Amino acid sequence: MCGIFAYLNYRVTRTRREIFETLVNGLLRLEYRGYDSAGVAVDGPKKTDTDNNKNTTCIFKTKGKVKALDEELYKKDSLDLDEELNIHFGIAHTRWATHGEPSPVNSHPHRSDKENEFVVVHNGIITNYKELKAYLINKGYEFESETDTEVIPKLTKYVYDNRENDSITFSTLVERVILQLEGAFALVFKSRHFPSEAVSTRRGSPLLIGVRSEQELTTDNIPIQYNAKLKDGVEEKNSHNRPDSNAITSVGDGRPVEYYFASDASAIIEHTNKVLYLEDNDLAVVTGGKLSIHRLSHEVGENPVRAIQTLQMELQQIMKGNFDAFMQKEIFEQPESVVNTMRGRICFDTNTVILGGLKDHLKEIKRCRRLIVIGCGTSFHAAVATRQILEELTELSVMVELASDFLDRNTPVFRDDVCFFISQSGETADTLMALRYCKGQGALTVGITNTVGSSICRETDCGVHVNAGPEIGVASTKAYTSQFVALTMFGLMMSEDRLSLQQRRLEIIEGFRVLPDLIKKVLALDDKIKIIADELYEQKSLLVMGRGFHYATCLEGALKIKEITYMHSEGILAGELKHGPLALIDKDMPVIMIIMRDACYTKCQNALQQVTARSGRPIILCCQDDPEISQMAYHTIELPHTVDCLQGILSVIPLQLLSFHLAVLRGYDVDFPRNLAKSVTVE
Ligand code: F6R
Repeated sequence: MCGIFAYLNYRVTRTRREIFETLVNGLLRLEYRGYDSAGVAVDGPKKTDTDNNKNTTCIFKTKGKVKALDEELYKKDSLDLDEELNIHFGIAHTRWATHGEPSPVNSHPHRSDKENEFVVVHNGIITNYKELKAYLINKGYEFESETDTEVIPKLTKYVYDNRENDSITFSTLVERVILQLEGAFALVFKSRHFPSEAVSTRRGSPLLIGVRSEQELTTDNIPIQYNAKLKDGVEEKNSHNRPDSNAITSVGDGRPVEYYFASDASAIIEHTNKVLYLEDNDLAVVTGGKLSIHRLSHEVGENPVRAIQTLQMELQQIMKGNFDAFMQKEIFEQPESVVNTMRGRICFDTNTVILGGLKDHLKEIKRCRRLIVIGCGTSFHAAVATRQILEELTELSVMVELASDFLDRNTPVFRDDVCFFISQSGETADTLMALRYCKGQGALTVGITNTVGSSICRETDCGVHVNAGPEIGVASTKAYTSQFVALTMFGLMMSEDRLSLQQRRLEIIEGFRVLPDLIKKVLALDDKIKIIADELYEQKSLLVMGRGFHYATCLEGALKIKEITYMHSEGILAGELKHGPLALIDKDMPVIMIIMRDACYTKCQNALQQVTARSGRPIILCCQDDPEISQMAYHTIELPHTVDCLQGILSVIPLQLLSFHLAVLRGYDVDFPRNLAKSVTVE
């Protein structure tokens, strides 16, 4: 739920100003993960420190967004910004509060003591922190924050102070600490006892390391080092010799190198495209400029190396370009992002669809008893949106499930079920827990994610990357339409040999062929939608009503509206209107209705009659040239027509745009809605 960034320069001279800029930029890229407070820890001393001790760690923390921290760092009494540092390690964090209100004292880095001997940045939740805290308080430690994280640096100091000999390494120390931790974490540790050394680790929260070196890297794989003795709970002797033995040889040997630690690649790509993704229980250690990876335990069958990968992502892919907000940019990227989802998968000449990540499992999937499609928020809505076409094309029973509720119910899952996990980030804790649960029940697990290398990607048996490109705006937009496309493509792949479905398949494939152009036509309605937003932005509530293929659009449209405009908004199944929601309708309640020429058209017309009979003044999303509907509407937004099961991709876009304009008119920060974070890595 937070963003971690750290930067180590080894034999690469940087001024402190440059180091601050690197740390702050890294945090800005990760701000979508949390933005209620931020902090950094760097080597001191502060200008105001009278003893001028170089071996000190300074911490700066501010409430609010990263910009506030940036201002704090450049205040007069800060550090000497022009001082050149040939070797330095700085850690940084942008927070989304889980334990303790947003405040400087609760923000990271957290420290072991007033001397800042050990400082830590953390993403995740330590579930046994109360027990650890009680233990440490009993040992005389004083806590300053309300966070779960603070136990980590305090415990590190405790282990350090109680070491048996002085040769203990930083990594051994951290190993001992994390063996005591329960819950989820990505952590980066800094200590003035181990100047310019970095130790980082993860369990359940993402962390990757970028490597920049003037020299070509001569290895793509870093062998991991096992620490079997520690697994048995016995301390390893002479462990201080370990980190160097299997370090990356090409960037070791005292040659200049820079390392970037981050919660995701968007913070690293501007520096290097060479990255290494840590896996759960990996411990990455940089000592003397060399990186080595250790394991906490020796698990059978695990991959013995960590590959250095080359990221394909371009920096401009994650910049705002000419748009005012990332969300707006991402909405307008959809003609391209859906093409990227289809690229290399749909052949329009042969009308075939192949999802490479699933083809080896197709037989097994076809034999399954049912499909269970699981996600949270917008990703869940993508499951709702495609359920009907998946039922039709796969001829299987399809359950759609909210991950949290699915887990709460201990839903029965069987070996012959196939479970899909839909997630933009690939890190959502509820979805990840549901995945682990289904795996435990023996079901085949399939990931549909937008983040290569994410936990859900790695832990599923097979899957599809939706390839929508990085989504920075907290409100998900292009990931939704790409998930929609990916799930529908899966249905097409499953029905390839079904004679009775060939006509249907052909019309959907044709729908996909023209989809990017139709999306462009919908985006061209932006000015009209802005005019409607001008009329609506002072309202308290906004209902969105539809049925059939558009029920998901109602849920998703209402979610977009509430999360970024803070207006009350509800997605209503039109079939349920007379069972309650009709009571809300009067001339003052704004209602958006989605009425397309599909199997539900007549039923939707009935709902429209019921609304207008109560003096409701509906804004209607309908097909072009539908005078019958238009004449009953207060406003119409006319959409190009496509095949019924893809129409939801077009009908959601006006609601994405509307929510964007409403939020801007109401004066809110579209990309950073209050109380929300992009990647929800806690349950
Ligand atoms: C809404 C939104 C959230 C996410 C949800 C799941 O705009 O973004 O509802 O869809 O938190 O996130 P992922 O897809 O990353 O698993």
